[in-house]
Amino acid sequence: MRASAGREKPADFPSLVPATSPRPAPVRVALLGCGHVGSAVADLLALRAPEIAIRTGMYFELVGVAVADLSRERPGATALDRALFTSDAKALVERDDVDVVVELIGGLDPARTLVEAALCKGKPVVTANKVLLAQAGAELSAIASAHGVDLLYEAAVGGAIPVVRPLRESLAGERVLRVTGILNGTTNYILTRMTDDAMDYADALAEAQHLGLAERDPSADVSGDDAAAKAAILAALAFGSDVLGTTVSREGITGIRALDVAHASRLGYVIKLLAVAELLDGGPDVSVRVHPAMVPAAHPLASVRGAFNAVFVEGEACGEIMLYGRGAGGAPTASAVLGDLIDAARNLRAGSHAPAPHRAKTTVRPPSELSAAFYISLDVLDRPGVLAAVAAAFGAHGVSIRAMEQEGVGREARLVFLTHSAREGDVRATLETLREIETVERVGTVLRVIGPGDGALGQAPTGTGA
Ligand code: HSE
Repeated sequence: MRASAGREKPADFPSLVPATSPRPAPVRVALLGCGHVGSAVADLLALRAPEIAIRTGMYFELVGVAVADLSRERPGATALDRALFTSDAKALVERDDVDVVVELIGGLDPARTLVEAALCKGKPVVTANKVLLAQAGAELSAIASAHGVDLLYEAAVGGAIPVVRPLRESLAGERVLRVTGILNGTTNYILTRMTDDAMDYADALAEAQHLGLAERDPSADVSGDDAAAKAAILAALAFGSDVLGTTVSREGITGIRALDVAHASRLGYVIKLLAVAELLDGGPDVSVRVHPAMVPAAHPLASVRGAFNAVFVEGEACGEIMLYGRGAGGAPTASAVLGDLIDAARNLRAGSHAPAPHRAKTTVRPPSELSAAFYISLDVLDRPGVLAAVAAAFGAHGVSIRAMEQEGVGREARLVFLTHSAREGDVRATLETLREIETVERVGTVLRVIGPGDGALGQAPTGTGA
């Protein structure tokens, strides 16, 4: 990186680039946003620029950093020359000496306007903005294609994990059947602590907040909103689906109790928050959804612990692929941004661009039309005839019980049911009927159960998955 970024060359720079080497022509980068990820990108770019120059022949120079508040202290960006900072992001994007724009502001506005402005000026854009892509990815990709430049967003899903490029390029010849992700580190950390250490939800959340893994307001993570945006992006990549992030069906983890986690463990499962994009009945209809599910302990996704993320892809010819790594954090996210930046600059120089994902009008079927096995927990009065009434409710809606367990809790009993695969709509109707039974004190947690028939353990999915 050049001195304009105000940074020291790393100690090994002289041994990597002889002083006599001609400096490669710079690729001039504008950074929009300098928060946690933005400052990590600036740092990593400065650190790696010499090595990248040797490997790629391109020398990256940060020529401007747009921030909303110039007066704010930026402890993560101390090495950045303050002269690079501006509060006029639009002017920075449009400057003639900016080749590539990196958007790390997040959210819809003003990010969308700025990304559009850059693309319309023929400048490739690299972004980590899942909300923007889940809402306007199709339109922005079309603008990028029309102007013959890249819109790259590897960091928007799964942080450091290469998942966008494998789906777009490596698997371009594959018929992807299903993509199942653990795409939210905060919730995976909470669920892991609940599983491993029998913590309850509130304590695990408080610990995640204390460690800086969860936001002070964790609602976007625990409600499933964050994973829903990522699921929409995966559905677009895997199936060309035009589903918007805001319309993805979602359930979060706030209702999961320690006792559910314990029941799941006893039955040989772990509870995970899954983001699923799935082709139904051979397509073109799809399901895109986020919900907690009981995952068999032997499933590869069950081994994804703590704040880690993973994406499990099932394809007709390729079978099963799992991509695993750090889904958040400054340096991991910056690593993905840098990879895109190099790609975008290389394509810009070659006058080409990465193919935009094929988009097609797809029907997204609601979860009520899908089938899965379910875990249902009920608190009932411990009296004669109660179990018969409960079982009758299942039977009335055609939901078949696979297994049942009862434990006494004072004058109440807790009943835990596992069903055979059933239409979710029928299961919901069963729950309504159960709520009307006087001796049913409470309908507790309801979870989908992933089984061997769901494709993830070697069988092809049939559209009746998790
Ligand atoms: N908050 C997210 C997580 C990272 O916990 O994984 C950003 O998408």
